[in-house]
Amino acid sequence: MRLGVPKETVPGERRVALVPEVVKKLTAKGLEIVVEPGAGAQALIPDALYADAGASLGDPWSADVVVKVAPPSPEEVDRLGAGSILVGFLAPLSDAAGIARLRDKRTTAFAMEAIPRISRAQAMDALSSQSNVSGYKAALLGAQHSTRFYPMLMTAAGTIKPARVLVLGIGVAGLQALATARRLGAQTTGYDVRPETAEQVESLGSQWLDLGIEAAGEGGYARELTEEERAQQQQALTDAIKSFDVVITTALVPGRPAPRLVTAEAVEGMKPGSVIVDLAGETGGNCELTEPGQVVVKHDVTIVSPLNLPADMPEHASQLYARNVQSLVELMLDTETDPPTLALDFEDEIIAGACVTRDGEIVHERARQTVEAAA
Ligand code: NAI
Repeated sequence: MRLGVPKETVPGERRVALVPEVVKKLTAKGLEIVVEPGAGAQALIPDALYADAGASLGDPWSADVVVKVAPPSPEEVDRLGAGSILVGFLAPLSDAAGIARLRDKRTTAFAMEAIPRISRAQAMDALSSQSNVSGYKAALLGAQHSTRFYPMLMTAAGTIKPARVLVLGIGVAGLQALATARRLGAQTTGYDVRPETAEQVESLGSQWLDLGIEAAGEGGYARELTEEERAQQQQALTDAIKSFDVVITTALVPGRPAPRLVTAEAVEGMKPGSVIVDLAGETGGNCELTEPGQVVVKHDVTIVSPLNLPADMPEHASQLYARNVQSLVELMLDTETDPPTLALDFEDEIIAGACVTRDGEIVHERARQTVEAAA
């Protein structure tokens, strides 16, 4: 079986779907791997390291399975061979045109976002591995843009109180942001609408902010709040936020616009020099004054809205992503044959759950609804 690794073409995307260490493991299992020249360049991985690991350099698009990071462009979909299999982030709940294109090309496409969040799939969970990178970087961005220290400092020139950092949305990114800010010495507090996150926040030595609103939804995700709950939440947060130096927001509801947690009034109430790092910019932002992709100063508060933070740490983000891809690819193989052959078992919950298009159909229910709604 041949596996192709293209060079990513989306501006700013510096990650690559496989790293040499993983290439070595897969070639040892008998897979042929073809890497597009320069595929790892933005992650500072030279072609020679891929060749040393056993890959050949060439056209990845004619491989049996093409593994990518970002969703393919229309030109890239054109280059996919008939009957090819594609693996990557495919934005199945937001990129209706992209999913329709893969359907029309009759590609068997697997979205990393659609891998079920079950224990057996943890090694393939790219949402988690990349959110970890985002959360870490978000905490650092908060420190970088702040006019204040994170840690308490006791110096001959006096004592500096530790910064107070509030994280809104305690998924994987939020937990990592809390942990990182705390390691840097900040006093940390976490808030979410899923009540089980209270224990997770406290286990990190952080305080839990209880606003009395619970909104657990399907599959371990949060549901969207009702209008009344949203107003209640915004008011309670406006009061709570005033005492924090840095607010990191990570709240998401899959397939929906980012929940609005921080109003303009709340920003106005913050101390001058405070910072908001809004990780939800790609879906509109958790803060009313966020400008996606920009750093802006409003009411003397710096609001940072980075897009695609994992691409800012391409080495480790690619390393983790490549291991996720490796685990998924291994699940697609019949290892009884030598060399292993492709054997997609659509009875398997992970293979079936991650598959978005197949045989000219959209087989992922919510992706199908997204495409129909956009038509
Ligand atoms: P996410 O990135 O979809 O959302 C981030 C956080 O925002 C979530 O914790 C969510 O509850 C919160 N949120 C949404 N609306 C909000 C609102 N209005 N106010 C405050 N917070 C709000 O979350 P992520 O990181 O993808 O995790 C989703 C779920 O998947 C979690 O339950 C997590 O524990 C679970 N998970 C399970 C894994 C497994 O293998 N079993 C692995 C990783 C995550």
